[in-house]
Amino acid sequence: MTRYDIAILGGGPGGYVAALHAGVKGARVALVERDRVGGVCVTVGCIPSKALLDSSHAYWMTTHGEDHGIVVQGARFDLPKAVARKDAVVKQLVGGIETLLRARKVDLVTGEGTLVAPGQIRVRTRADGDTAIDAANVIVATGSKVGAPPIRGLAEAKPLDNVGALSLAAAPRRLVVIGAGVIGMELGTFYAELGSSVTILEMLPQALSFAEPELVRLLVRSLQTKGVTVVTGAKVTEVARRGRVVTVTADVEGTSRAFEGDEVLLGAGRVASYSGVEQAGLETNALGITVDDRMRTSVKGVWAIGDCIGDPRAPKLAHVASTQGEVAVDTILGEDARMEYDAVPNVVYTHPELASVGLTEAQAKERYGDAVKVARFPFAASGRALALGETQGVTKLVTAGKDMRIVGVHVAGPQASELVAEATLAMRLEATVEDVVATIHAHPTLAETFREAALVAAGRAIHVAR
Ligand code: NAI
Repeated sequence: MTRYDIAILGGGPGGYVAALHAGVKGARVALVERDRVGGVCVTVGCIPSKALLDSSHAYWMTTHGEDHGIVVQGARFDLPKAVARKDAVVKQLVGGIETLLRARKVDLVTGEGTLVAPGQIRVRTRADGDTAIDAANVIVATGSKVGAPPIRGLAEAKPLDNVGALSLAAAPRRLVVIGAGVIGMELGTFYAELGSSVTILEMLPQALSFAEPELVRLLVRSLQTKGVTVVTGAKVTEVARRGRVVTVTADVEGTSRAFEGDEVLLGAGRVASYSGVEQAGLETNALGITVDDRMRTSVKGVWAIGDCIGDPRAPKLAHVASTQGEVAVDTILGEDARMEYDAVPNVVYTHPELASVGLTEAQAKERYGDAVKVARFPFAASGRALALGETQGVTKLVTAGKDMRIVGVHVAGPQASELVAEATLAMRLEATVEDVVATIHAHPTLAETFREAALVAAGRAIHVAR
């Protein structure tokens, strides 16, 4: 039997990236996955939802392109065709990952894995029954599953989740969404662009509770014009399906209100999933498997990364899981690596997009008090945004200290997901407002809004009056 340097349980963006990274560094690696490699992100999450959102956005632009001189009569969205394209994108990406794993000599073992003891994994494979894997180190990367909030009738009403919502044959006329988190807002945008009337119910006072409030307000206003209604302070308590109608009951500021739809989508959060590792005796907390900054669990030789861990600082994001995978592998191989969470970009792929890195204004004031200053640059003042015809957006900088170090950047607008990369690098390098001002940006680009916001912060605004 091969003794591996590293065996990884779970082939999502945490596990498969860890496997490739370890393969590059010459380690002997086994990767255990029950389904397709790529995990939720590649097969039923990040990638397929973006493929569909790109389709719905193209449709929206086609049917709302009068200002650009685009007049199309009889435009129609062929949802099964868009779903087939999405499936093809996923298939290609999964195939690509499998090819990379082979190139790095990673053994991919397909089956249900159980960590029976530190260093020992039993895999129930379809073909040959049980296979035993022996490894000096095990990385647990078992991900997360849809959370089931205490809502009466939820299971019986068969709500759509991130999987079902990506493969409908037709767009529902009316869609009710439970939770204005990332999934609710993104998939709500998708169906609204296809013409569905979408109602999103959120128990907290703000949609996307982690995001900068003024940007969320801008987004919610913008989505309203597409047929999305967000009701905050609305805690869903019951769901009932009668025939073709689903009734969702929510407690809205003390009053019970009913919302009717043809479909209901559940986007009320995900929880750590780590069945199959309990026997190994890993310490867990309320959020998941307990780890330190080097991704070590309480058991020697066992590591954990991604959505299955219980670290309140670690957002459940694919790029966080991948980075944790690299840290775990590097530590196993004797390098000095550790996770840092100060500059983790977070993107919501609505239209317009929302992207942020670092602290919100409120969080910064809590940490730095009066030393915090903010500056904004509106997309309406950007030549590139005007040319695009997408002027709803803003770049907001949050700075701290006399030297105005950048501690948070929040962008709402087209391509915010791409714009946040520069801000993330700036934060990582502890850049100040003057560093950004001194950086020449190509004109005309949306990226200029970052420098323009820095100019506003420095009191030397060019393209806005104040
Ligand atoms: P989430 O945690 O982002 O949002 C769930 C929302 O549902 C919260 O705002 C919560 O207050 C609300 N909620 C819970 N119970 C409720 C109830 N009974 N009534 C009304 N509202 C209720 O979770 P979501 O959207 O399900 O996403 C799951 C995970 O997937 C997240 O951790 C997210 O980070 C990740 N994800 C990331 C994406 C991205 O980075 N673009 C895209 C999609 C998902």
